[in-house]
Order: sequence, then structure tokens, then C-alpha cells
Amino acid sequence: MRFDILTLFPTMFDGPLGESIIKRAADDGLLDIRRYNIRDYATDRHKSVDDAPYGGGAGMVMKVDVLARAVGDVVGDAVVPVILMTPQGRVFTQQIAAELAQQPRIVLVCGHYEGIDERAMSLFSDQISIGDYVLTGGELAAMVVVDAVARLVPGVLAEASPQEESHSGGLLEYPQYTRPPAWQGQAIPPMLLSGHHAEIARWRRKQALARTREHRPDLLARAPLSAADRKLLAEIERDASTTETET
Ligand code: ADE
Repeated sequence: MRFDILTLFPTMFDGPLGESIIKRAADDGLLDIRRYNIRDYATDRHKSVDDAPYGGGAGMVMKVDVLARAVGDVVGDAVVPVILMTPQGRVFTQQIAAELAQQPRIVLVCGHYEGIDERAMSLFSDQISIGDYVLTGGELAAMVVVDAVARLVPGVLAEASPQEESHSGGLLEYPQYTRPPAWQGQAIPPMLLSGHHAEIARWRRKQALARTREHRPDLLARAPLSAADRKLLAEIERDASTTETET
């Protein structure tokens, strides 16, 4: 999969793209991540990429002509998602990551300064925010999107199953344990040592449901639940109310 990142700060990406799983996948040719400096598309003597806002006010605004040249050069006639990273976009989720991972190529544009000229909006097919808070620029947001999408590209993760992890089935993930078997008086849940695979799967599903109920009731309300899940949830409710009456 190919990612084209348009940014004023290409070197900001060195760390996240130069380590670990993403680096290996790029070295193996599974990912082709290209960076472009928006400043290279400025034409004046000072290489200006921003200017003062019409109507006055604080901060600087990214220039539409520079952005249009940058996007035009990188995208050309290709039909690809061109996504602006902005706190005004739709909020990024695992589902959006999965949709983007189906694409052979996406283009991410990092906004900076106080904003970008409104006339540049027609350059983008989508706008994404990584959450309801404001960053100094779109770079960190683009890194989040690249990471979340790239790990869903077949072959990027060695063996793990993205289907089982938090959010992909609409639930948080069940708790995990590894050696040592006892640590500071805390043992491994006996079920995990039982060797009963079906029982372990049921226990894990119940843990995932209980956790999601506890930490993210909003996710639970939207999760696609089977009849077996509903039974487990009823058990969880019962367990919870017994604990409440005991204490
Ligand atoms: N740029 C600044 N804040 C952002 C956010 N929350 N998401 C995406 N891009 C941003």
C-alpha cells in the first residue's frame, strides 16, 4: 500500500516510520510511504506557505495556491482518497482504518498554523480528526492514521490476528497474561491453565464484554452481539449485582 504524506515538516515522521513494524514492512516492500514538503511548492522568494487572515485576527493561514500545486503534483490524474488531517474532520475509528486499508493508495495532507484557506477544501475528498482536541499540526494525526492503517495491510503483522484485538469486533480486548505464573501474589486466572479451548474462548469473550461494559458502555451499546453474548452479559450483570449486595 502506498501512502503519500504532504507536510511542512517531513522529518517529524522519521521516528515513527523508521522503527519497528512499520519500518520492516516498508523495507519488505509491503508499504511505500512517501513524504513531500509543501514548502517546495511555494513560488515566492521567501518560500511562503502561509499568510495573514483576511478580516484580521491572530495566526496565519495556509495558502490555497501552494496547497493546490502540492496536491496537484502528487495526485495528478490518479483517483485516490486525498485526506486533510484537521480537528474539523470526522473522528477516526478502527472502522475507518479498515476501510482505508482496502485502498491501494491514500494521500494525507497535514494542515498547520491556525488553519488553511477555505478555498482549499475542494482539493480533499475526506477530512479526518484523530480526536476532540487540537494539535499544533496534522503530522501526529497523520502518523496515527498511517500506523493504524498500515498494520491492517496483509503481511504487515507477522501472525497476530487484527480480528481479535480491541475495537475490531466492537469490543475491548480480553486480558492477557504470560510468565511468570505468580507475580507479587497475583496468580494467572486458572481457566487459562485448564487446556479447555472452548471454555477459554468463552471466558475471554465474557472478560471482553465485562471490560467494555465497565470502561466503554458507549461501544457496548453499538457492538454487534450474538445470543451467546447476551447470555454472558446477563451473567455479568448478575455477578455485578451479587458483588454489590455483598459489599
Ligand atoms: N490537526 C490539529 N488537531 C488535529 C486533530 N485532532 N486531528 C487531526 N488533525 C489535527
